[in-house]
Amino acid sequence: MSTRRTLLLGLTYLATYALADVTYNVVGYPDTETGSFGVQLLTSPIGPITKLTTSTTTFPLWSAIVPGATATTPYKYVKLDAAGNPILFEDFTRTLQDPTAIQTLYEVFEREVTDTKVPLVPLVYEPWEMSKTKVFDDGVVATIHLTGDAGLWEGMLMAPQEAKPMQVDFRYINDKLVHSVRNITVGISGKSSMEFNKQAIKLEFDTTAPQNQTFFSRPSVKLRSESSDPTMIREKLYIDVLNAVGVPTQQGSWVRVYMNSKAVGLYLMVDDVGSSFLKQTVHHGDGNVVKGSLWQMNAPLVETQGDLKYLGLTAEAYPADCYKMKTLGSNPVTAPMTQLIQLMKDLEDFDPLTMDGGQYWESRLDVDGFLRNMAMEYLAGSWDAYWWSGSNYFIYFNPTLRKWQWISTDFDGTFGDGDPTEILTTYQTYADFSTHDRPMISKLILRSPDLNKRFEQTLRDIVSYAFKPEALFPRIEAYEKMLARDVAWDDAIDRSKYPGKTNSWTEADFHNSLAMGGVKDMNLGVRFWIEERTKGLEAQLGFKVVPGTPDKVKRVVRKSKGGASDAEASFASGAVPRSLIHAVGEGGVGGRLVVITIVGAVLAALL
Ligand SMILES: *[C@@H]1O[C@H](CO)[C@@H](O)[C@H](O)[C@H]1NC(C)=O
Ligand SMILES: *[C@@H]1O[C@H](CO)[C@@H](O)[C@H](O)[C@H]1NC(C)=O
Repeated sequence: MSTRRTLLLGLTYLATYALADVTYNVVGYPDTETGSFGVQLLTSPIGPITKLTTSTTTFPLWSAIVPGATATTPYKYVKLDAAGNPILFEDFTRTLQDPTAIQTLYEVFEREVTDTKVPLVPLVYEPWEMSKTKVFDDGVVATIHLTGDAGLWEGMLMAPQEAKPMQVDFRYINDKLVHSVRNITVGISGKSSMEFNKQAIKLEFDTTAPQNQTFFSRPSVKLRSESSDPTMIREKLYIDVLNAVGVPTQQGSWVRVYMNSKAVGLYLMVDDVGSSFLKQTVHHGDGNVVKGSLWQMNAPLVETQGDLKYLGLTAEAYPADCYKMKTLGSNPVTAPMTQLIQLMKDLEDFDPLTMDGGQYWESRLDVDGFLRNMAMEYLAGSWDAYWWSGSNYFIYFNPTLRKWQWISTDFDGTFGDGDPTEILTTYQTYADFSTHDRPMISKLILRSPDLNKRFEQTLRDIVSYAFKPEALFPRIEAYEKMLARDVAWDDAIDRSKYPGKTNSWTEADFHNSLAMGGVKDMNLGVRFWIEERTKGLEAQLGFKVVPGTPDKVKRVVRKSKGGASDAEASFASGAVPRSLIHAVGEGGVGGRLVVITIVGAVLAALL
């Protein structure tokens, strides 16, 4: 045997030996600043506890390589005190899912499943194409670690109405990466959510030089508090169905948030509808499009709604708190409402009984998108939206399509949340227009014969494929398992010193409200709502849902555009790239990494 061959074999053995070790990674907050975490192999006899380490660039992620461990070795994490003594063992046993893995995902202390395979919602219409991002992952609850001036932060929570945004350092840890950004802007967001003592939050990344902050092509996100929903699932489920019906919409996924290592809460992180959303979602990641006019509508009072009723040619005629300009588009700076007023005038001039609705509206409005959004408002009983309240939506003049697009928002008051017993009815009687008209509904959907036909077909399509128990219950069940412990964690956070009310939801409320309902003074259960709505529609429109869970249109895996700076972003911010996962943590780990690297280099040179 030649020397060279012997050397090669020896090095191969060394490399193989190194690969038999496993790197363990867990996100966790110790009880004190000097506390830490460990991992214990559940071999027989039971292994010693290996202390995990963290660093200023990865905290609260703790890591260590355990020599001799393999992917099939059962283990659990343990919280340690300052002296390294165990104070809390996880109450379940873990093993790696992939038997060949040499590292864990970035797991979370006391959360059994890191990455849930969430059953897909069957596709009804071709999905809206958006740029790729690592920000939204249906099956992972990521951790957001914020650090900043504690006094300023407390001040914001004590007086949310007057709160001014502050600067904080940001770290995002999902199952696979750590992404850190210094000095981002955090503010309180929301309107009705401010009545609760858990505040909704807005995070803004300054993507311009010199700050150059990045967040995977989604530099403006809101953290929705979901205070009114004991399940915290309704809004996400609504988004899921909107995605299955092919309209551009805010994406969402859950995050647990900490400020200065103190629990803030569980949130649904969603896109903020603004300029970046238009680029990344509406315009598929294309940054060259000059954006059109975007308006946000609200109904601060029952009498004043963003109803789109034509009130005259001048902007002064329209209540400013119902119509808010977000981007100017091609309107004159002195008359930003020009295009929108024209739309309302066209709506006023539209006579549903003598005009062909499809022909009239196709040149002005993405009619399919509008009908699908309205179908969802009715199907999910989204009472705080346009159809029922003249509220909570955007309308965007898409310069590429040269027509308006409907963009719905705020989906917590859905699937039986609120007191909507009386709205579990036919779509004709769903809302009352006698005291306040919403002409986009009364004229287009209820009175225009051809658009009404299209609307009913949209309802049949959505219910036949996606909005039915068979299609949504498996997903709800996966979410229920995935979130139960995090929702309980959120429910247990003491926010009593902050102003605002609380619903004091319990774990029982979480499960009940996903089932049949009957939670406190409100609310029909999510599953009950879907079941009743499906049955009601089948009876009213005389059809039966398609059995099983097939897609209605072909599911194409597209290579999405944009968002390409993600990997570089994580390098630039000092986060740990996936390829160097062994380097996570400090002390003891570095040496072994060097060994593997040298082995690789020598082998490469010899071969
Ligand atoms: C942090 O951000 C604020 C607001 O964008 C800016 O004024 C300030 O200069 C930034 N500080 C640093 C150290 O970059
Ligand atoms: C920010 O980006 C600009 C333009 O791409 C670049 O010139 C500058 O060096 C960047 N600054 C930092 C701090 O990375």
